[in-house]
Amino acid sequence: MLSRSALRAVTANARTFSSSASRQTKVAVLGAGGGIGQPLSLLLKTNPLVTSLSLYDIRGAPGVAADVSHVDSHSEVTGYPADKLDEALEGVKVVVIPAGVPRKPGMTRDDLFNTNASIVRDLAAAVGRVAPDAHILVISNPVNSTVPIVAATLEKAGVFNPKHVFGVTTLDVVRAARFLAGITDSNPNDTIVPVVGGHSGPTIVPLLSQTDKGKSIVGEVYEKLIHRIQFGGDEVVKAKDGAGSATLSMAYAGAKFTDALLRALNGEKGVVTPTFVKSPLFADQGIDFFSSQVELGVDGVEKINTLGPLSAEEQKLLEACLPELKKNIEKGKAFVA
Ligand code: NAD
Ligand code: LMR
Repeated sequence: MLSRSALRAVTANARTFSSSASRQTKVAVLGAGGGIGQPLSLLLKTNPLVTSLSLYDIRGAPGVAADVSHVDSHSEVTGYPADKLDEALEGVKVVVIPAGVPRKPGMTRDDLFNTNASIVRDLAAAVGRVAPDAHILVISNPVNSTVPIVAATLEKAGVFNPKHVFGVTTLDVVRAARFLAGITDSNPNDTIVPVVGGHSGPTIVPLLSQTDKGKSIVGEVYEKLIHRIQFGGDEVVKAKDGAGSATLSMAYAGAKFTDALLRALNGEKGVVTPTFVKSPLFADQGIDFFSSQVELGVDGVEKINTLGPLSAEEQKLLEACLPELKKNIEKGKAFVA
């Protein structure tokens, strides 16, 4: 029989082991050499919940990894060149995908489909083969189609888990908070706006009526604010004038969503954020992916919340969103089929 002090030591060791075991989180970034990939990798290197960072790109990932690895946080960083995708994915728990081409002025996100669909499909197939239990966070546009592509690719391989595939729509939430704070002279942390639907123009549906600061905004100010949230991406594409789209704010948003997921995977309760997932909310209308407030848990998607009460304007925004979103989802599915 163990003495009381020996028992205390064993229990303490078990606690240490179980807490460090639960925190062994290897994260991969696919597209790590790009405009988003580089700052995203840097931000993930500073996240204490990331224990190992695997950086992959068809160009430049070993260099980015060497650079980021000098940051004085505890995680290990390894870079993988084009022919080492499978090695990059070994043992990963979370895969973030910003691989693919960005827009130039005059293009829609859907114009990226022809190039990005096959990039995302091939990366998803590799994840399905090497790390089928990984959580996949899709940044590559058009998100409304690339998420169904990832899901259908994994489904084909017999490893699709709807709790593990996320379209990252966090930049819309970040913009909504920032833009609303700008016109209400408040702190963006106090103006969090649920943004639902999808991630392109009219499919982006901000629910201002569900926030204290937003519900009193009406008329022309309301119309302008909605337009700015829905078309914030175009603002950046235009300002960059041919050099790409949002990278820094997207890296911030991607790191923010990844952190939310990692906290939930590590057992934090009450982590709720909008994300584009396989969803029952509009499945009866043939729309089986949708972004709404999703509670994250130790196994990814824990609960998909309904939209809650909508104002008359928001009801109209939703009506404009659904047919466009349906087309985008069907296009993604048809590509894999
Ligand atoms: P970028 O061109 O700067 O970087 C893309 C990177 O992907 C490049 O380094 C490229 O080598 C790499 N790449 C291409 N094919 C690859 C493959 N098969 N495997 C691995 N890596 C590959 O572009 P960016 O500005 O970083 O944007 C990337 C994507 O993110 C675009 O599709 C853009 O539209 C999208 N985006 C999404 C959001 C969002 O809110 N979800 C926001 C901004 C940008
Ligand atoms: C964004 O919202 O900034 C991204 O989707 C990139 C783009 O093409 O606008």
